[in-house]
Amino acid sequence: MVAAQQLLWSIGHSETKFALPKYCISATLSFPMSLADKLQQLLKPMVPKRFYFEDALITTHNHSFVEDPQFRNAYGRGLKASGGKDWNNRWRVYTATWVARQCAKIEGDFVECGVNYGFTSSAIMQQLDWDKLGKHFWLIDSFAGIDVKQATEEEKQQGIVERSEFSKRSGFYNSSAERCRANFSEWKMAHVIQGWVPDCLDQVTSSKIAFLHIDLNAVTPEIEALKYFRSKLTRGAFVLLDDYGYSGATLQFAGWNQAAKELNLDILALPTGQGLIQFS
Ligand SMILES: C[S@@+](CC[C@H](N)C(=O)[O-])C[C@H]1O[C@@H](n2cnc3c(N)ncnc32)[C@H](O)[C@@H]1O
Repeated sequence: MVAAQQLLWSIGHSETKFALPKYCISATLSFPMSLADKLQQLLKPMVPKRFYFEDALITTHNHSFVEDPQFRNAYGRGLKASGGKDWNNRWRVYTATWVARQCAKIEGDFVECGVNYGFTSSAIMQQLDWDKLGKHFWLIDSFAGIDVKQATEEEKQQGIVERSEFSKRSGFYNSSAERCRANFSEWKMAHVIQGWVPDCLDQVTSSKIAFLHIDLNAVTPEIEALKYFRSKLTRGAFVLLDDYGYSGATLQFAGWNQAAKELNLDILALPTGQGLIQFS
């Protein structure tokens, strides 16, 4: 088991450096996590049930939530949004639904920057019986991957542009805003905005925000999103960062830690790779 864990880690760790021509660098950065994920899925049937074993997270901590009917129902709605594509990231989705439940109790609307197919946000809306809650959910995405103009030199060196292109080609990123709108048409108070973060954020007309999920896989627009919404976050509001400490997301980690110093934020690193900030 330990050997399998080490193998997965070394394959999945995007920091691994290889002496390859430039065009191959994107391959080393793009494929490893998906390969690790595939390997993890292959090994899964051999792993005893007491292990949580997916999404670069292996633990024997209690994870009975995976059997909880309410959670399964919410995750199932996420799967419906993605057309059955399963990223096997149940603990991350579980965390997002928990955070969303806390935010449902306080004043303010919900925002997700980086929606893709709408997996996580659909799970949240299913669980909260969205239209009965009386809150708006703003769902923002370019539906065109990352904005190359916003990528830092370091991100470019690490292959962010090639990774984004690969994600679009392979269907990991959804390129259809219409598809996303169709998914959310079930709920009256869901608003899909197609545009670049942060330029399009003024289309969010809510003045109070209780929940902000940031998942753009790119440092600059992620931090700009928080700066934009900071003054609108209500007392007790949560900001959930999808990739703060995620395996290989070293530039996001460094960028967010720098922003935390400047903006006086206290980020909780979660074992799922997510980061959590509460505003008071
Ligand atoms: C990892 S996916 C989001 C996954 C989604 N949050 C979920 O949990 O299912 C990242 C998304 O961010 C979008 N994106 C990246 N940079 C962006 C930007 N500057 N503005 C708008 N969307 C962007 C991409 O198009 C992609 O769909």
